[in-house]
Amino acid sequence: MKMLYQQMLAIFGVIFVMMAIVSVLFIRSTTANVWSNSFDQLEEYTDVLADNALQVNVARSAFEPNAAFIQNSEKILQNQRVHFMIYNADNAAVYPNNQANMVVSIEAKTWAKLKKGTSVALPELTTNPRNGKQQSMTIYYRPVFLSDKLLFVVAAYAPVDNIQSSIRKTEYNLFIAFLLSALVAIVVSYFVARYQVNRINRLRQVTHQVAEGDYDVDVHVQSKSHDEVSDLANDFQDMVHSLRDSQAEIHRQEERRRQFMADAAHEMRTPLTTINGLLEGLAYDAIPEESKGQSIELMRNETKRLIRLVNENLDYEKIRTNQILLKKQTFNAAEALAGMVSQLKQKADAAGDKLVLDAAADVPVYADHDRFVQVMFNIAQNAIQFTQNGTITLSAKAGYHQTELAVSDTGIGMTEDQVQNIWERYYKADPSRKNTKYGESGLGLAIVHQLVTLHGGSITVDSQQGVGTTFKVTFPDEETAPQQAPITHTK
Ligand SMILES: Nc1ncnc2c1ncn2[C@@H]1O[C@H](COP(=O)(O)OP(=O)(O)OP(=O)(O)O)[C@@H](O)[C@H]1O
Ligand SMILES: [Mg+2]
Repeated sequence: MKMLYQQMLAIFGVIFVMMAIVSVLFIRSTTANVWSNSFDQLEEYTDVLADNALQVNVARSAFEPNAAFIQNSEKILQNQRVHFMIYNADNAAVYPNNQANMVVSIEAKTWAKLKKGTSVALPELTTNPRNGKQQSMTIYYRPVFLSDKLLFVVAAYAPVDNIQSSIRKTEYNLFIAFLLSALVAIVVSYFVARYQVNRINRLRQVTHQVAEGDYDVDVHVQSKSHDEVSDLANDFQDMVHSLRDSQAEIHRQEERRRQFMADAAHEMRTPLTTINGLLEGLAYDAIPEESKGQSIELMRNETKRLIRLVNENLDYEKIRTNQILLKKQTFNAAEALAGMVSQLKQKADAAGDKLVLDAAADVPVYADHDRFVQVMFNIAQNAIQFTQNGTITLSAKAGYHQTELAVSDTGIGMTEDQVQNIWERYYKADPSRKNTKYGESGLGLAIVHQLVTLHGGSITVDSQQGVGTTFKVTFPDEETAPQQAPITHTK
């Protein structure tokens, strides 16, 4: 069954049962009320009659019914069709004493009660005391005593038609009220149920949307009313958000993987093609004897380049996925830079560059020594690579809770666009330069950036085309350096 009908049925059912119970209780209490009112009235009449219905017959020195008074009373009450009877102490009717009427004496059981002094009210179906017929009526018997001796019994009776008709009127009104409230119940239950069902349908529709890959949904609107459905909507919305995020992350990862495969393949193709060409030349004896040594040297270089490429890629991935452990310690950065200067001197001389070290004698830095050298060496090597006949300055100084290092050159510089991309893997601002002596893979700065970030430091670049480039690196001191996150063992 559709939920709309289920809900309607539930709401309607509750209202229906409630109305039915109220109606039954109301009818029962009204009926009881009407009956008891009727008996009360008859009781009151017998009260009056008990005091005035008898008169003393002086001649016979006995009591006899005051027929004139009783008839008058019956006349007054004729609208209600109330009649009276008077019985003497022997259960014989003394009023009405018209012999034409067949007057019945009081039933023995009732008479016994009356003799004990209890008034008796008889219910609906009973015997008409005047003609002995079974009839629906109310009768009230009241015994009158004179110094403990039963003097006579007064009876007042009336047919119950009026009582029944007034009860039926109440029943009819109740029935109308019942119908009306059933109608209202149907309308109200329909709207309440439809409201709920609409909210659920909205969730269903959104679920379909999400199932089809559209995560651009908003069901938060329902959260104004706080109930289970709106909680469900909110949970659903949260779920959609995290689904969307993980979907985006999967896309990003996939894109990175695709890009990486493409770039790596591209990077490896050049040395492999060179090696393959030389090997074929050797195989078919196409290379003159005197050039063979040079060819083998070239192949060795290309192989080295391939190995470096593979190692750097592995290194990059390890740093990226937090699989390397930094052995951080405080050491003198000026000393480390001085060592680098002497190592790079030859390369600088070859490019006609002047290497300058600008640092105090002792500049403490808190870092993994080998990784620190790797970072600064890469930057310095780039500076030499892209500077001809210029000056390269390496500087180090202590800053506030950090060590500040810089490498500036007077080389070719970069455009703003190029600066934006240098941290990307395989990025080379000028691809035509890729076969220069030192840099060729475009991985150097990507690794540098990862390493500095892993240390909790920062790296920025300031460059102007044709003027020069300055790389600034900071390493936080021991106090402010972040704890390295635990090593994760992702593959
Ligand atoms: N000091 C610099 N002056 C001008 N351009 C630079 C400088 N340093 C880096 N670049 C640009 O940034 C690019 C990326 O540098 P990166 O060190 O990552 O790669 P690479 O030097 O080309 O290769 P390798 O992986 O061997 O270092 C370089 O190709 C170059 O275009
Ligand atoms: Mg480089």
